[in-house]
Amino acid sequence: MSERSAYDEAISSGQYQKVTGLIGKYDNVRRLWEDEVMRLFLQPYLQRMLEWKRGRGEGLRILDLGCGSGDGYELLVGAKREDKGLSTHANVAIEPGLLQFYKGIDLNPELIAQAKAIHGQRNMAFVEGNFNELDLEAEEPYDLYFASYGTLSHNGHEQNAQLVAKLAKHGRNGSLIVADWLGRYSYEWQTLWSNDLSREQWMDYLISYIYSEEEKKHRELSSLTLALLCRQEVLAIIQGARRQSKISIRLRQLFDRSVLVGRHMDTADYNPHAQPLRQRVNSLFEPNTRTDLEGLLVNYVPKDGFPAINEFYTMFQSCWNALVGYVIALLRHYDAATASPRPEIERYHPRPLRSAMAEMRRLIAAIHRSKIGDVRANIIEPHLGYALRGLEMGLQRGMGCGHGLVAILELEKEPSRSRTRW
Ligand SMILES: C[S@@+](CC[C@H](N)C(=O)[O-])C[C@H]1O[C@@H](n2cnc3c(N)ncnc32)[C@H](O)[C@@H]1O
Repeated sequence: MSERSAYDEAISSGQYQKVTGLIGKYDNVRRLWEDEVMRLFLQPYLQRMLEWKRGRGEGLRILDLGCGSGDGYELLVGAKREDKGLSTHANVAIEPGLLQFYKGIDLNPELIAQAKAIHGQRNMAFVEGNFNELDLEAEEPYDLYFASYGTLSHNGHEQNAQLVAKLAKHGRNGSLIVADWLGRYSYEWQTLWSNDLSREQWMDYLISYIYSEEEKKHRELSSLTLALLCRQEVLAIIQGARRQSKISIRLRQLFDRSVLVGRHMDTADYNPHAQPLRQRVNSLFEPNTRTDLEGLLVNYVPKDGFPAINEFYTMFQSCWNALVGYVIALLRHYDAATASPRPEIERYHPRPLRSAMAEMRRLIAAIHRSKIGDVRANIIEPHLGYALRGLEMGLQRGMGCGHGLVAILELEKEPSRSRTRW
């Protein structure tokens, strides 16, 4: 009997579930692609800021808007320092002791309760509240105002301009604002695309991807109303915030995140042509699992009336498919049983594609003879996942063609001659 209750106890802890990166909120794409892309774009700004703060004997102050259960904290503390070489194991940017204070705010009381249960540290606070009604008067400026994973798509454009203006007034010289929306032209919702920028574009967003097909049949799914934005709309919001705050808000980065690997690629809820590419990239990253690489090849179906967007996707698809095709050909080449010529890297390919191909060629040449485990599943395929991620980072144009459209803003509050350089 006691044995049984020990198992029951373990099951009820929630820690006894099968761990898989193939499905769920924290699937492989979320952890190894989306979180990492955020970190990689943020890394140089975060590192410069941390060095400046360290020099002054101060720690970092972070305000996470729409913090949910505190995932933004994990994203940020997982950011790495610039590579210090293979022999160094301590490579996190926000070293222990460098975080002075993290505060998360969210409308949802259950998520706030969950955040408090997960993160009990002394220098962290989670509060239930509306970030549009923040009263920051009594608080010291933050170094980083962070709103991730489509959070600002809950707001209309004018509300966003007001919010960014308020943060800009509250921040200090050099503070960063990270703002994240859903992309207006993500292939996931091609049926909703519109060129009419005089009207805000909103969608009824279903969180349908967390349910199986069977579960979906028996559930009434409720939706969120979220705004879809493109580059011009983000620029207009920043311009509006500059006008309202009279502060110089510099746009340091504007990038598309999750081009062709957003969650609704798998559901095809808003585009009948969407292929389940997220599932397949999840499989690339999954240990001990081989992926049907042919299934990664993209067949983009253009939409009439969107020439610039079609041009981007056609270019992106051709680079993506060239990289996948190149790896398929390399694997055949190194397979003694089916020896075929080693494929070439063409000079005319864009640089990010050539670098990704060269990286895969070096890796496969070095590892193909290894007998330690399944090197295809455990080394080559995850590396192809990282190479595709690098391709996205190198080729995206910040147009609103990814699941997420992310801006990194920096405040300049002092005249440039006396401005703190960090
Ligand atoms: C897309 S989720 C992002 C959650 C989390 N930051 C993450 O990385 O997973 C958006 C979050 O913003 C919260 N939210 C939406 N509008 C809000 C508002 N006006 N004030 C505070 N929180 C809000 C929602 O409750 C939700 O938790």
